[in-house]
Amino acid sequence: MKLGVCYYPEQWPERWWANDAKRMRKVGISHVRLAEFSWAMIEPSPGQLEWGWLDRAIATLVNEGLLIILCTPTATPPKWLIDAHPDVLAMGADGNNRNFGSRRHYCFSSPIYRGESQRITRLIAERYGNHPQVVAWQTDNEYGCHDTVLSYSPSARHNFRRWLASHHKTIEALNAAWGTVFWSQCYRNFDEIDPPAVTVTEANPSQRLDWQRFASDEVVAFNREQVSILRQHSPGRPVTHNFMGFFTAFNHHDVAADLDIASWDSYPLGFTQMFFLGTDEKIRWATTGHPDIASFHHDLYRGMSVDRHTGKPNRRWWVMEQQPGPVNWASWNPAPEDGMVRLWTWQAFAHGAELVSYFRWRQAPFAQEQMHAGLLRPDRSDDKGLVEATSVGRELVRLAKKLPITNLDVRAKVALVFDYNCLWMTEIQPHGADYNPLELCFRLYSALRQLGLDVDIVSPNASLANYRLVVLPAMPTIAPALLAALEASTAEIVLAPRAGSKTSTMQIPANLAPGVLTDLAGITVTRVASLPPGIVTKVTGFDKLMTATRWREELRLNTAIAEASFDNGDAAISRNAKTRTRYVAAWLAGDDWLTLLGRAADDAGLITASLPDTIRVSAIGTLIIACNFASTPFLWRPTAPAECIIGEATIGAHGVAVWQLAVAL
Ligand code: GAL
Repeated sequence: MKLGVCYYPEQWPERWWANDAKRMRKVGISHVRLAEFSWAMIEPSPGQLEWGWLDRAIATLVNEGLLIILCTPTATPPKWLIDAHPDVLAMGADGNNRNFGSRRHYCFSSPIYRGESQRITRLIAERYGNHPQVVAWQTDNEYGCHDTVLSYSPSARHNFRRWLASHHKTIEALNAAWGTVFWSQCYRNFDEIDPPAVTVTEANPSQRLDWQRFASDEVVAFNREQVSILRQHSPGRPVTHNFMGFFTAFNHHDVAADLDIASWDSYPLGFTQMFFLGTDEKIRWATTGHPDIASFHHDLYRGMSVDRHTGKPNRRWWVMEQQPGPVNWASWNPAPEDGMVRLWTWQAFAHGAELVSYFRWRQAPFAQEQMHAGLLRPDRSDDKGLVEATSVGRELVRLAKKLPITNLDVRAKVALVFDYNCLWMTEIQPHGADYNPLELCFRLYSALRQLGLDVDIVSPNASLANYRLVVLPAMPTIAPALLAALEASTAEIVLAPRAGSKTSTMQIPANLAPGVLTDLAGITVTRVASLPPGIVTKVTGFDKLMTATRWREELRLNTAIAEASFDNGDAAISRNAKTRTRYVAAWLAGDDWLTLLGRAADDAGLITASLPDTIRVSAIGTLIIACNFASTPFLWRPTAPAECIIGEATIGAHGVAVWQLAVAL
């Protein structure tokens, strides 16, 4: 459990650096991330390398005992590079370049940029790769931010055609996979195919899916090139990338397979305003963030990075950027309640973070992010974030004195399967304007957390052997490995709507939905319907009246029985006792997911809690950490014998309590 900060020495007078470093150490910060937007300062003109300032900045920080996370600066190619090679720029679907003047102005498929990315990565890795205090690397910055995964450039089109040829082998196979006989879209060879852009109406969905898969593979290849250079010149240092929240435009599992540590950038208030929450939720959680937004991503990214030797997830993850105060980029940017920066930091540790690094040290008085808080104000005075980070720093020292912290791992008994490829399918044809598969993942996750359950969010290739409850919120296509894992599992299984409803090339399975899951679920889906806003369907089951909105299906029960029914008597939730598998034929309201998953958890023999929706509890090693998102105190203590080592049983408003159990759960 360490603290870090993102620091931009190039943005401040050099005479401030030593004092900054001293103050960082006083806060309890051990790691400083540097240089992700520094290309134009490192190489102001082609081939003219200015390392002096970065050498001195690193020396100043290291002099205070700080450790360095260095970044490749490829998120911001300099102006001279763009002027010399305008085809580095990404192209929008409308055929216009996405120009210089902000950031991420590059196309992943540009051969020139791929070469330049490798050149600058090699230069920085050669210079600092063996520096003893350079302890980790970050590749680029937030791949895909500002909608930059897809580029419709000539290079992207060229690479897409090659990708299609290598995946489909023959044009006949591609025509069959895409169903191009529909609307006379048949192709005679791969060179006839364009990216799906500015078509008259909806482009072929299987083509769109392949386009997304191709674009994702370009991100993977770009990242892999940097990673291999960094490993060559900086042996033994972990490589990470800072992923984003609620972002699905490339397959993060594929990128993370090349990383030693996954990290992500946590902005709970910005995410609360910018994503799918209802207006009432945006108001309710405006100054704390929805309690499950950060932890959803903590649990997702914990399942990402991979041990290079075994190929298995190593569960190492960091928060690379932690919101320190109001941000600038959401539609509305409220200030966090006092205490929230501390709470978010502890919440990350509660889910297994090794490092929480604040973005940023000091608020910039200029340019795009001048309205974004830092730990310090632009005049160098302490902002509230600094005060709270300092409290955490002190608490970590206390904790370290109290117990030797080893093996701080989350031992979840619940797995939620999460697949980017599946999300793309539903995003491409949602069938109802508000059917958001990512939201469904979040809603089911949130219900599990309200039940007090720790959750692993896992890839479709993960082993399911150690879980007692396995939940598939958004899985239209099921690869053979996942099917085998489900069939071998002894867990309770919950399938949300549309599970198994598509083949891998996005067609309806020959045996109808749920396709390969038909035997497991013991049902066949005979019809689906999306429900416009305002249409609410009653569902009766589990001794409760529930509600379905947005979506309902008609089921034929094969070997399953109905546990809940729509008001016309049709099955709404089924269970196949033999395989312990439930199928849910509707988009349920939040509390109803809680009821259903509570029942599934009971059947799985898991102990659930009944907590207010403002309290979240997580177990990690021998620690139990409780976070109070409410503005009133709350009394909570673990049922097992434990000692409260930070905070107290009555958790203050927006406060935290850390308990040490006599034995791990
Ligand atoms: C992140 C980004 C940072 C900064 C921050 C502001 O998305 O990585 O560079 O822009 O947002 O909240």
